[in-house]
Amino acid sequence: MPNPSLNALPTPCLLVDETRMQANIDAMNAQLQRLGVPLRPHLKTCKNIEIARAMLAGHPGAAAVSTLAEADYFFRHGITDLLYAVGIAPGKLAAVAERIEAGMDLTIILDQAATANAVVSAGRQLGCRFRVMLEIDADGARAGFRPDDPDLVSTARKLVEAGADLAGVMVHAGGSYGCSSRQAIVDMAATERRAAVTAAERLGAHGLQCRQVSVGSTPTALRAQDLAGVTEVRAGVYIFQDLVMAGLGICTESEIAVSVLTEVIGHRKAQGEVLVDAGWMALSRDRGTASQARDRGYGLVRDLDGSDLGEVIVQATNQEHGILAGPDNAAVRLADFPVGRRLRILPNHACATAAQHAHYWLLDNQEPARLLRRCNGW
Ligand SMILES: Cc1ncc(COP(=O)(O)O)c(C=O)c1O
Repeated sequence: MPNPSLNALPTPCLLVDETRMQANIDAMNAQLQRLGVPLRPHLKTCKNIEIARAMLAGHPGAAAVSTLAEADYFFRHGITDLLYAVGIAPGKLAAVAERIEAGMDLTIILDQAATANAVVSAGRQLGCRFRVMLEIDADGARAGFRPDDPDLVSTARKLVEAGADLAGVMVHAGGSYGCSSRQAIVDMAATERRAAVTAAERLGAHGLQCRQVSVGSTPTALRAQDLAGVTEVRAGVYIFQDLVMAGLGICTESEIAVSVLTEVIGHRKAQGEVLVDAGWMALSRDRGTASQARDRGYGLVRDLDGSDLGEVIVQATNQEHGILAGPDNAAVRLADFPVGRRLRILPNHACATAAQHAHYWLLDNQEPARLLRRCNGW
């Protein structure tokens, strides 16, 4: 059966423009080639093997995941070196051990002496040699040992003495998402690198060698000027880019590869607003642009072919309704948005919007070419 056209796809659904996606891959690869560091793509954004293979092309084949469901899915498809890049919950150690037993090269991360104790005792109980990276905090944004934390060395030592495999250190400069200038992101990338390298050097000075020194977020990866001492970069959202990244100046809106296809279902005439069949179930509740210079509501509206329609945004959402208006709730010309007109909505946060969907339609030349499955859930 031939693929349906964009006019016939059931709405709402998720579209990925393959040409834009490949351009995003090429841009990241060119940057990392300049810096001489390989990519460990973070697959939490795409959650699909075909897209993952495109991200991995030309790199060593190692990847990062954010759930064990992703680890299982990508392992089934032949990706074996997987970094589970969320601080390990002690309750998951038995599940991790099972996967290692099954042949997965699974690395876990931790940033607490208490978690290291749990890893040591689970290792003994389960007869499993866990591979561990210590998470380092560069910016106070989320988690990690500060590079000068006395617990860093004692925790690493405890793990090594108990027979665990200390692979190295990793940093995620989540503070990069809140930067307000290009220079601030350049500086954040330098801070991220320094935190990782300082921690690794400190451990090395105590005889605790780090094979891996891992950094990354999309903004810092794309703005880093120097990655001396770093062995790999992790990035995920660059694959699709999104409005938050555009607000940071990391991409342009026309480089955003993912969008939600929707159809006009009505009007709120008095307000000059348009109702579409993509609400928060299709777009997510993410309001990541709210703190940026340009607040894009729940998404920016584009024409069916992806072209610019000016500043029409999803101002509000119900579960299955999106309400479109201009900036500051300005009325739009309702005659321009007749019932049945199809539109695309660019997401604030690609990971969050994509997570609302089980599949993507991959577009080739603006025509649906392939339906790709995502491995959602935990
Ligand atoms: C630990 C870790 N590494 C890498 C990334 C990738 O960052 P980005 O989504 O900006 O590409 C994330 C994103 O949340 C992360 O949590």
